Amino acid sequence: MVMAQSPLLPTWIDRDACSLDDFRAAIDRETTRDDVPLAAAITANIPVYDGDAVRAAAADDPKPLMAEWNAVFDTGPGIVAITNALDDHDTIDRVSSVLRAVADREKDAAAGGGDHFAAAGANIRIWNAHEKLCMASPEAFARYNSNPVIPMVSRAWLGPAYQVTTQVNIVRPGGKAQTCHRDYHMGFMAEDQLTAYPLSAHRISAALTLQGAIAHGDMPVASGPTKLLPYSQTYATGYIAALLPAFRDLFEERFVQLELAKGDAVFFNPATFHAAGENRTTKVERFANLLQIGSGFGRSIEIVNRTSMCIALYPTLAALKDTGDLTADEIDNVVAACAEGYPFPVNLDVDSPLTGMAPPSQQDLMRQALAETWPAERLASEVRAQADLRRVN
Ligand SMILES: [Fe+2]
Repeated sequence: MVMAQSPLLPTWIDRDACSLDDFRAAIDRETTRDDVPLAAAITANIPVYDGDAVRAAAADDPKPLMAEWNAVFDTGPGIVAITNALDDHDTIDRVSSVLRAVADREKDAAAGGGDHFAAAGANIRIWNAHEKLCMASPEAFARYNSNPVIPMVSRAWLGPAYQVTTQVNIVRPGGKAQTCHRDYHMGFMAEDQLTAYPLSAHRISAALTLQGAIAHGDMPVASGPTKLLPYSQTYATGYIAALLPAFRDLFEERFVQLELAKGDAVFFNPATFHAAGENRTTKVERFANLLQIGSGFGRSIEIVNRTSMCIALYPTLAALKDTGDLTADEIDNVVAACAEGYPFPVNLDVDSPLTGMAPPSQQDLMRQALAETWPAERLASEVRAQADLRRVN
């Protein structure tokens, strides 16, 4: 990734390598129509795409749009917004109600032993919402993940075999803002940990995940949609700088926020300086499904039991295919969201490839099962057998 100031920097960087002037130079850039010719608009320096146009590109030739997004994430503003990214609002509402029921169950389970959520009136978090949604309602999961937008934007930055994780954040009126930060991997490290990694690793961290948020309800600016600083992902020493008060102050001076409607989405490079905003409304509950999409080459942030998800999802997905409720492409989008797409790590003593360079992935098994209309019991036993082979011992 091209980053500002990189030719001047040593391998080992610390806070002395962070300069406010350099940071200002990195973020003092204007996004022009020439930079993002496929965008419908540019708002607050962020290219905004129309969901219908994205779906049309997905069905025709997605690569030009994916190339434009790749450049945006890499050397451009770092952020794309997509209006009406999820156009099936009934499914969004259904997913919202399934996830609210999950939140209620978790709150009840925690009662008496101390509520693990924030204080009353503040946020509700559902960790690993991806697996919980799939297990609670495979059909809602399938319809929600059949949309082509998430696969397109994920492949644009990470390539295939990406790993979707999601966390729900519901911020009630009065919910406070976050402090400016970068995200996983190196965004979750303290300064003394960051200085132990060479600059080359700082650059790689930003290539290993993609951040996203899908609005499950309308989010006026007063409700606190994510505060974002375009182009901040290009600042090479930014993982350290994001911890320093002077840089955090500059973020507070310069951030932008996009008003979102239900079904809109934003995606951004994890090295973008950002923070959840304060909900200053008296009535609006800000409900976002936050996506952290991991590269197949990296380690996801969350443990997701994809074997259980495949087994729970398969009968529903096979039926949706059989009835023609979902197209072949839509089915494939769901498989990509559910099953593990990367075939490693493996135990090569017992799981070496018979042909080619790699054994089959869990996604390969799911696709084969759907193509050959395996009964659910066979799919369950095959994915379990594959998972057993991949245990450490
Ligand atoms: Fe974050």
